[in-house]
Amino acid sequence: MDDLLRFSHDYHDKFEPNAYLSNYYNGTGDQVDLSRPAIYDLISAAPYAEEIIFAEYTEKNRQAVEAWQHKSPDSHDWLPYFKFVVQRLEGKESEDVFIREAELRKKISHILPCDIGWEDPVRWPTAWDSQQGSFDVVTTSLCLEVAVKSEQEYSNAIAKMRKYLKPGGYLAMHSALGENFYTSGKEKFHFFQVSQKLLQEILHKEGFGEVYMTSQADPTSEEPGGELYFVSAKVQ
Ligand SMILES: C[S@@+](CC[C@H](N)C(=O)[O-])C[C@H]1O[C@@H](n2cnc3c(N)ncnc32)[C@H](O)[C@@H]1O
Repeated sequence: MDDLLRFSHDYHDKFEPNAYLSNYYNGTGDQVDLSRPAIYDLISAAPYAEEIIFAEYTEKNRQAVEAWQHKSPDSHDWLPYFKFVVQRLEGKESEDVFIREAELRKKISHILPCDIGWEDPVRWPTAWDSQQGSFDVVTTSLCLEVAVKSEQEYSNAIAKMRKYLKPGGYLAMHSALGENFYTSGKEKFHFFQVSQKLLQEILHKEGFGEVYMTSQADPTSEEPGGELYFVSAKVQ
């Protein structure tokens, strides 16, 4: 393990999607780890969304999602996660698992570059107008904290996601509290440490209400007291 701490700009050449996915998302059947779902929100969301736009910072990561979408033989196997959500959590039949997989593949209409540091964080197709106030739901998982280094930047990132939402829309976030770094492959990545209090204060400051939050100990945390959380918050 190289002890050098990596930051957002290092993701282009130091973050290997295969190493990350096999490290954190290698669940099989009943052993799926509920605390580490990667496209977790999209599996449940697929039946409710007309269209899903997937935005990701690095080209390699976008290619990994595209490979899954196009059933490339070397793409990551998310099937155990679909089984867990559709059968175990939703109580549906085994055939519904495959229907859901196909539905999500179809509903991801675009895979676009993004950088939460940009004023408008998604690079929309050139023919599109501003997407501010366009979406019912914006989701993000384990991303903001790798990209920001201060409370102000963290707050700005949440404000930018808020701008994409319609009045009454929801922000759904899954990430970690009380952690400063994580490792993937041989690399150690910066993670901006957030507390529950800070997150809730920022959500209220940025115009969200009806905040629902749940958390649990993070079994993969390399620091004591690390927790994973899920939060949903409604634009007021
Ligand atoms: C810990 S991984 C999380 C991946 C996945 N969302 C998950 O839940 O497992 C961190 C992600 O943040 C992305 N990222 C890094 N810098 C970013 C930035 N400036 N803006 C947006 N995303 C960024 C990386 O490309 C990587 O996909």
